[in-house]
Amino acid sequence: MRLETERLVLRSWESRDHAPLAAVLGDPEVRRFYPTIATPGQARAQLEFSIEKQAAVGFHFGAAELRSTGQFVGLVGIGYIPDETRAAIRGQPAVEIGWQFDKAFWGQGFAPEGARAWLDYGFTTLKLPEIVAFTFTGNVPSQRVMAKIGMVRDADADFEHPKLAPGHPLRAHVVYRISNPALGA
Ligand SMILES: CC(C)(COP(=O)(O)OP(=O)(O)OC[C@H]1O[C@@H](n2cnc3c(N)ncnc32)[C@H](O)[C@@H]1OP(=O)(O)O)[C@@H](O)C(=O)NCCC(=O)NCCS
Repeated sequence: MRLETERLVLRSWESRDHAPLAAVLGDPEVRRFYPTIATPGQARAQLEFSIEKQAAVGFHFGAAELRSTGQFVGLVGIGYIPDETRAAIRGQPAVEIGWQFDKAFWGQGFAPEGARAWLDYGFTTLKLPEIVAFTFTGNVPSQRVMAKIGMVRDADADFEHPKLAPGHPLRAHVVYRISNPALGA
């Protein structure tokens, strides 16, 4: 699995990604819209889960690195939505797109650049009918990325994240959607 954009290489996970991935997932600022930071062990488990999922179904997020230097800059990609979450979203969409980038690289358009390549892969190669994204209502930067890559908010699909307890301050989520342009509206 390898995609290239103007500035990024998007590729499958390798064990060398563990340290930089753990640094991103363990950063309280990166994770300010998540219920917790991830420990290094949880980052390892997430990396291994992604590798297994990719082997099983063909894709599951991936690493992003700079083409110019090979430096790890973050995580971006598409993956099947876990059943419990999927059931909470209007229309029960199958595949989501998501991203988490090292804050040293924020504000340079890397997330939309990587996400656009993943959307293209999902629509052109995998021929998926639709890709959605969802996030905490207050996560404006992530919603900016969704809008920049052509996704549109479906306000009727707002939902309370089922993996967070009722009353949790991060429970309210918004949904953005985009349909495969090659398959018509
Ligand atoms: C969301 C995120 C991936 C954006 O990546 P990016 O490569 O910086 O994307 P962009 O450069 O296009 O910036 C997108 C928005 O981020 C915000 N932003 C940019 N630089 C920022 C900074 N230094 N600090 C805080 N927010 C910033 C702005 O709202 C920007 O929108 P704008 O371009 O209209 O001003 C990144 O902020 C991130 O990793 N956040 C933490 C993880 C997360 O919330 N992931 C999504 C979970 S659903």
